Amino acid sequence: MAAPTNDAGETRAPVPPTPDEVRQALRAVIDPELGDNIVDLGMVRSVAVADDGTVAVAVALTIAGCPLRSQIERDVRGRIAGMDAVAAVDLTIAEMDATEKAAVMSRARWKAREGAPDTAVPADTRVLAVASGKGGVGKSSVTVNLAVALARRGLSVGVLDADVWGFSVPRLLGMEGEIEARGGKMVPLELPVGDGVLRVLSMGFLADEDRAIMWRGLVLNRAVQQFLQDAHWGDVQYLLIDLPPGTGDVQMGLARMLPRTEMLVVTTPPVAAQQVASRAADMARRGYLRVAGVIENMSDFTCEHGTTYALFGSGGGQRLATSLGVPLVGTIPMHPDFSAGGDAGEPVALGGGELAAVFAEMARRVAEELAPVIETSGCTARLLDQVERAVAAAEG
Ligand SMILES: Nc1ncnc2c1ncn2[C@@H]1O[C@H](COP(=O)(O)OP(=O)(O)O)[C@@H](O)[C@H]1O
Ligand SMILES: [Mg+2]
Repeated sequence: MAAPTNDAGETRAPVPPTPDEVRQALRAVIDPELGDNIVDLGMVRSVAVADDGTVAVAVALTIAGCPLRSQIERDVRGRIAGMDAVAAVDLTIAEMDATEKAAVMSRARWKAREGAPDTAVPADTRVLAVASGKGGVGKSSVTVNLAVALARRGLSVGVLDADVWGFSVPRLLGMEGEIEARGGKMVPLELPVGDGVLRVLSMGFLADEDRAIMWRGLVLNRAVQQFLQDAHWGDVQYLLIDLPPGTGDVQMGLARMLPRTEMLVVTTPPVAAQQVASRAADMARRGYLRVAGVIENMSDFTCEHGTTYALFGSGGGQRLATSLGVPLVGTIPMHPDFSAGGDAGEPVALGGGELAAVFAEMARRVAEELAPVIETSGCTARLLDQVERAVAAAEG
């Protein structure tokens, strides 16, 4: 997509977001213990946007010393910094006063009473959508291998194959089977990996032709919605979503249904692919999905004599990452084991070779730096407990 132009064809400078747009973007930041976003919980006290693109936000937490503080802080900064024309984020964190705490608690209780959450994905699951501008850059291979590498760390990892028309996750993981329903909800197929487990849903598991055809008849977005809402994901710590290439529909749908979704953009080194990937990133921002990082695939090729060739040029991933202001999470070389592993249904990340090490390091970065497992260490639970006890004592 070309930069916006005015009638004279000159490039217009992007304008900073309005305070309302900032609040909208902050709806993606969830307090995992309260199970709702910080805006609707009343935790965002003020938002101001200066002409120079500095966004000042004041957030009040239930307990200022809460271990969730750094996570909420990082999420708030990330969401705002990812918006167009934001020059700086000026974040103030304060502790709620007693009235605010009471209000937030009653809101949280009301939410809890209201019953079923909007999706079947637990509030403390990290949702990472793997995106690319076009097909064939290795998006599905990256999704399954990163999922495997996370599971090898002992984690429960959901894999949602949202590439409804071009699903390939079952083949790449060597999984076969049919989705069963329990209590009217789909049960993902499980694959134990080391101390962890993968829970996988894909159109490829809808073996029943009639049902599959009916499903394919649904608009793409509706199919993904059902995978998110009518499924037993259980206590997955990560949910990796293999997005269909190109289209923005599913991204927009995700932004609405699971606004805390973060995107990992897969690109190959050539500039052309980079432009497409940058378009995907742009879509993400407009849908207020945060881009968490860039992964460069098919970077270079080392032949059996040890000579390395940068077949497609190099540096594209880093350039894209820099232009988006996000980290380059990993660089995956071109390697024949990749397609062999894919064909055999044995992801390379399962093995012990060089590629497994690349994915293990990427999983480490994701789990330790980029999108750490959400710790529900109980500070709000503790607070709730205090409030409940105080109420009980008052009611005597
Ligand atoms: N790093 C790599 N080295 C060699 N082949 C790769 C690599 N990454 C992906 N491939 C191959 O490229 C093809 C497309 O990959 P795939 O993951 O299906 O892409 P996408 O989901 O983006 O369409 C597959 O045959 C896969 O085995
Ligand atoms: Mg694919």
